[in-house]
Amino acid sequence: MTKPLVYITRTISSELLRQYEENFRVKMWESEDTPVPRDVLLKEVAEADGLFCMLSDTIDAEVMEQGKNLKVIANLAVGYNNIDLLTAQEQNIVVTNTPDVLTETTADLTFALLMATARRIVEASDYVREDQWEDWSPFLLAGADIHHQTIGIVGMGRIGEAVARRARGFGMNVLYHNRSRKEVAENELQAEYVSFDELLKRSDFIVPLAPLTDETEEMFDAKAFDKMKESAIFINASRGQVVNEDALHEALSTKKIAAAGLDVFTVEPIRSDNRFVTLDNTVCLPHIGSSSVKTRTEMVHLCCENIVAVFQGETPKTPVT
Ligand code: DGY
Repeated sequence: MTKPLVYITRTISSELLRQYEENFRVKMWESEDTPVPRDVLLKEVAEADGLFCMLSDTIDAEVMEQGKNLKVIANLAVGYNNIDLLTAQEQNIVVTNTPDVLTETTADLTFALLMATARRIVEASDYVREDQWEDWSPFLLAGADIHHQTIGIVGMGRIGEAVARRARGFGMNVLYHNRSRKEVAENELQAEYVSFDELLKRSDFIVPLAPLTDETEEMFDAKAFDKMKESAIFINASRGQVVNEDALHEALSTKKIAAAGLDVFTVEPIRSDNRFVTLDNTVCLPHIGSSSVKTRTEMVHLCCENIVAVFQGETPKTPVT
């Protein structure tokens, strides 16, 4: 019997895939860095039994209609807003994501971005590199404190809790807003549940970590930025679409809020002339939340294990429900 075929939308090293040779054949887009062109994806998916895709691929009804044999779509990300779940369900295609394995790594990046933004680390490094450091002075590149400040986390899921744990380690007060109350966060991390408005008003650092849904899309709009402190620092490593970028840009450029650290944008990638990159109070990263070698390796394995499970008629480890 021929083994099922999996199409992978980026190049993944054959070393990582070797152990699944028994279970499925692989075809992949021959580039690690550039996404598969739409026409190639549509052509390749027509032959595939499984699709292993990236958060940057739009997997919509057109792709699924082409993929007549598709049984599983494994997304190399915890977020799955790039996949049309309704169509997948209608066509009996199992969708999987990669939660848990990336929780701590994404929390590390979120906290690193918070620290880099507050203490102006990127700017300070550029200052030295560009030979601007002539003399020491008392307020040279003075930033904002992190310790004992208040962090407001919107979306207290696994990554939210992991960020809260790091914040507690810095002696921060933790506020959170979530669809439901979280006992672990409240009891173990002394996080205080507050309304969205109260969180905006009281927090020194505002960190959205909720998944992108109809409810969270553009949750951070002009009204939200108006309620924040002038010293507030906004850190986004979730999805660009939870923010109205016009409102964020206006808040940053008019100094309505102090600064932002952004790992995600509504349209990615961004270029060096992007309006956020050109601001002096914003740190921009290229969506690297879960990007450590160990975690990305574990994510690849989790995608493959999920694909194998579906081909064997079993429930995958991490289905999107
Ligand atoms: C995810 O997995 O959804 C993250 O955004 C990756 O960094």
